[in-house]
Amino acid sequence: MSFLTSATHLHITTWVIALVLFFIAAFASKKLTGVHMGLRLMYILMIVSGGALFLEYRDAYGMNYDMKVLFAILVIGFMEMILVRKNKGKSVNVFWVLFAIVLAVTLYLGLSTGIGMNF
Ligand code: HEM
Repeated sequence: MSFLTSATHLHITTWVIALVLFFIAAFASKKLTGVHMGLRLMYILMIVSGGALFLEYRDAYGMNYDMKVLFAILVIGFMEMILVRKNKGKSVNVFWVLFAIVLAVTLYLGLSTGIGMNF
């Protein structure tokens, strides 16, 4: 599994692609099923790449890692909520605010702990 855990590059690639696909689908005037399916594939690749890092380094970074994974899963949940509600014509404002908060916390936890970049 070393290609998954020797660095965070692959993981970073998965969530950057996921965020790009999410914003394309979220701001599209019509339902983009193909983009949404691509996003769901990226959810899996994010969880696999992040999960591998978690299993490899959790003992070294403890609670910070637990919180990072928890907030990352919330980001995925709110991305899905926004797209599904948008396609049903329901209001999404509250979920955009929650999405922005948990994404900021996830990025902070990811970039301030662990093996990768450390600001
Ligand atoms: C949209 C979702 C996600 C975002 C925005 C995100 C963001 C990040 C960022 C910014 C880093 C730091 C990279 C670095 O320092 O080089 C990172 C690392 C990490 N992420 Fe994620 N991630 C997401 C999803 C996940 C998921 C689903 C998991 C677990 C199942 C996860 C687990 C981890 C772990 C364990 C690390 C390693 C931390 C380190 O040692 O640097 N992430 N992520």
